[in-house]
Amino acid sequence: MNDPFSLEGKVSVVTGGNGGIGKGIADGLAVKGSAVVIAARDEAKTAAAVEDIKSRFGVSVSGLTMDVGDPASVTAGIQKALEEYGRIDVLVNNAGVNIRKQPQDYAIEEWDKILDINLRGPFLCCQAVYPTMKAQKRGKIINTGSATSLLGLGKCVPYGCSKMGILSLTYSLALAWARDGIFVNCIIPGWIDTPLTVTARRDFPGLSQFVEDRTPMGRWGQPSDFMGIAAFLASEASDYVTGEYIRVDGGYAQHGNTVSFD
Ligand SMILES: NC(=O)c1ccc[n+]([C@@H]2O[C@H](COP(=O)([O-])OP(=O)(O)OC[C@H]3O[C@@H](n4cnc5c(N)ncnc54)[C@H](OP(=O)(O)O)[C@@H]3O)[C@@H](O)[C@H]2O)c1
Repeated sequence: MNDPFSLEGKVSVVTGGNGGIGKGIADGLAVKGSAVVIAARDEAKTAAAVEDIKSRFGVSVSGLTMDVGDPASVTAGIQKALEEYGRIDVLVNNAGVNIRKQPQDYAIEEWDKILDINLRGPFLCCQAVYPTMKAQKRGKIINTGSATSLLGLGKCVPYGCSKMGILSLTYSLALAWARDGIFVNCIIPGWIDTPLTVTARRDFPGLSQFVEDRTPMGRWGQPSDFMGIAAFLASEASDYVTGEYIRVDGGYAQHGNTVSFD
């Protein structure tokens, strides 16, 4: 029997795959045999990620300089990946940014930047891979949401709107493209130790301890915690799963959600 988790012969594009959660996702796809295209802005960081994945997993890996906030860059980047590999089987929309402040203090440019990168960018990436995935009669799209895809957060209004939007995009594209053989799902991370949350811990002293206390598993998540879920959602093993979100949060969402009193 074929391994339903195998990604041999597949090509995956991971936006924001040069660090943090995206690198964990890229590692998970590579360990199951997928060729990986790392798409991000910082070329030095991307080159380091490419070398690391090549040396650890022995798969074909390329770096792509792409700004998902820039529509022309998305079109050119996906085209370049297609020219190099001839197919795209998996698209991971993971690139994301945040600016934390009170709602009344955001400038329009800050709102636009967050929404452009976190929501419009993923939509444009999906549009760009659609003709190829449709022609292949198969494709897997994995979006990165956030706890704010489901809950409000007062100091992250534009970010929360973008992440609720990502879930809506997941649900709606799953419906629109199911008969094209395109699966669309969303990963919802809890509190993960990455450069994004280093700044949150700097800005909010006490956050680190709060997360450890409140997370049932008692620890922050690590990028490597995303390897398995990425491989699963990219593979045949998840072929009856679409329009779904899966939390990777150490049980954070269930904190206090119990009838037990001990
Ligand atoms: N860490 C958490 O606790 C947490 C929780 C929930 C959700 N998330 C989500 O998880 C995703 C990854 O975050 P992370 O924590 O791993 O943060 P991170 O380490 O800061 O990674 C963000 C990634 O996105 C890339 N990126 C940012 N802007 C981009 C742009 N305009 N075009 C292309 N790539 C861009 C960055 O690379 P370049 O700078 O080189 O472009 C980097 O690879 C984000 O969508 C974030 O919202 C994180």
